[in-house]
Amino acid sequence: CGIVGVTGNKNATSILVNGLEKLQYRGYDSAGIFVDSKDHKDYLVKTTGSIDDLKKKIGPEVQGTAGIGHTRWATHGGVNIDNAHPQFSDDDRFYLVHNGVIENYEQLKKEYLPNVKFHSQTDTEVAVQLVDKFVTEDGMTTKDAFIKMLSLLKNSSYAFILMDRDDPDTLYAAKNKSPMLIGLCDGFNVVCSDSIAMLDVTDTFLEVVDGDVAIVKPDSVTVLDEKRKPAKRNQFKVTIDPSASDKGTYPYYMLKEIDEQPNVMRKLVKKYFDADGNMNVGCGLMDNILDSDRIYIVGAGTSYHAGLVGKELMEKYTGIPTEVHVSSEFAYEEPLLPKKPFFIFLTQSGETADSREVLVNVNKQHFPSLTITNVANSTLSREATYTMLLNAGPEISVASTKAYTAQIAIQAILAKAVGMRGNRQVAKDFDLGRQLGLVATGMQSIVEEKDKIDEIAKKYFVNAKQAFYIGRGVDYTVSLEAALKLKEISYVHAEGFASGELKHGTIALIEKGTPVIGIITQKKTAGLTHSNLEETAARGANALTIVRQSLAQDGDTFVIPDVDELLTPLLSVIPAQLIAYYTSLNKGLNVDRPRNLAKSVTVE
Ligand code: G6P
Repeated sequence: CGIVGVTGNKNATSILVNGLEKLQYRGYDSAGIFVDSKDHKDYLVKTTGSIDDLKKKIGPEVQGTAGIGHTRWATHGGVNIDNAHPQFSDDDRFYLVHNGVIENYEQLKKEYLPNVKFHSQTDTEVAVQLVDKFVTEDGMTTKDAFIKMLSLLKNSSYAFILMDRDDPDTLYAAKNKSPMLIGLCDGFNVVCSDSIAMLDVTDTFLEVVDGDVAIVKPDSVTVLDEKRKPAKRNQFKVTIDPSASDKGTYPYYMLKEIDEQPNVMRKLVKKYFDADGNMNVGCGLMDNILDSDRIYIVGAGTSYHAGLVGKELMEKYTGIPTEVHVSSEFAYEEPLLPKKPFFIFLTQSGETADSREVLVNVNKQHFPSLTITNVANSTLSREATYTMLLNAGPEISVASTKAYTAQIAIQAILAKAVGMRGNRQVAKDFDLGRQLGLVATGMQSIVEEKDKIDEIAKKYFVNAKQAFYIGRGVDYTVSLEAALKLKEISYVHAEGFASGELKHGTIALIEKGTPVIGIITQKKTAGLTHSNLEETAARGANALTIVRQSLAQDGDTFVIPDVDELLTPLLSVIPAQLIAYYTSLNKGLNVDRPRNLAKSVTVE
């Protein structure tokens, strides 16, 4: 979910709505705003659906100078107007927006609010009803009631903004685990889940840390730490060109982002290699990795898949054993760690709650870490020891494309840099700058074959109930990502499989016409995967291939240019991204905003 708040001398409605539009990547199943004018006229507008639907419901009378807003990715309670935020207290005095999960809300309901009639199924409503109870029944001030309510939340994550209609100019904000920033402006101040929501009104933000409470007024912000003592927090400036998030003439962001990949590769070469081929990677970072006895790569979704390729790169070029973990698993099942682990967090957004939970544990144990992210100043970037930026430009489409390839390229850059510093010949011999140039050209040639891929999607995928991608080694890891893309946006059930493993059970699912795509880029296993594909064809599958030029045979479907074997995922994934795109498009689906998903999931 995404939250916004504003108080001061500006038109609150437009600031809230613009902010929510930018936060829709965090969820878009329902939305709402509450706006209060100083003369005690106030408005609550809520809807199911997107911010566009919300805008249609906001009449010209909805005016005010203070307000809060929310775009939802449902956790507790179905998608309906009652469960949309802002949630409010029974007596209509307090309004609250929330990103996170209150784990003990049932118990709080029973213990403190047995007689309150709840109008939603959300965990959030408990928080606002509690504040109301502490103020109206127990005579507390709003601030003290808010703080008391926070103290009752167990194992919970939250970013809250509370409004009291008796004092609408004051916003009460608090954060634990869920991201939240305060934007500082002239004559007004804002609160938001992510700076991108408020870049139109300010570039200066105040970092709020877990456990803080912030009292935000038009001309002042007071932050209280966990002990409720005034605290000084870091201010930082964000410099993103807001126009970088324009769709231009593209029908969907996803297609734009797929097309941007060659350029992202070129930008990475420019940033990390100087004219003499020397690499711009920090010495402290490289020495910390060289000093470690095992590297742990941690990520979720597509970032996890990029990490699977990263493992191969790190092991080959640095010689350090490397493991890759799904962050939500690692968070609660930490493996036995060696003496000197080094952690690499892969996260496009820098905000994924599952990954952050791991980082918090890593920091508690004082282990060094690196976050590789697309978003400067994001939570995981601020909290890790080191950061490397993807520099891929904003990725808006929910299905990740350019962040995946940029993450792989950066891991290659890091692996080579560390390997060279460790004096490893294999790293010195790796002509990565030139290879990434070849990758960029190769990507360009693939994205120019859109018509061919559109045809493949129409012929084999649009009417398919299920599909399989198979491969070995890094091709297997790309199969996982390729299948995820198809599932996410076209709703075709798809699996990525180690091609040798298919025959040990899953081949039973192959029916006449099931599309099975073999990804074949590794010399030592190409013949085997070709054979495995034949086995599926013999059982009625439509066997297709994405094959590296030098390994291609007659009858292969899609041939990609030759590059270094460990960099082939940068190319082999692109036809798969486009197959998912055209399948979704031809099914008439919303490519950028698939059902049930959010781009950044800030709850565990
Ligand atoms: C969500 C998105 C995925 C993404 C994952 C990890 O589930 O829908 O596309 O891969 O989060 O996100 P991150 O920002 O940490 O890379």
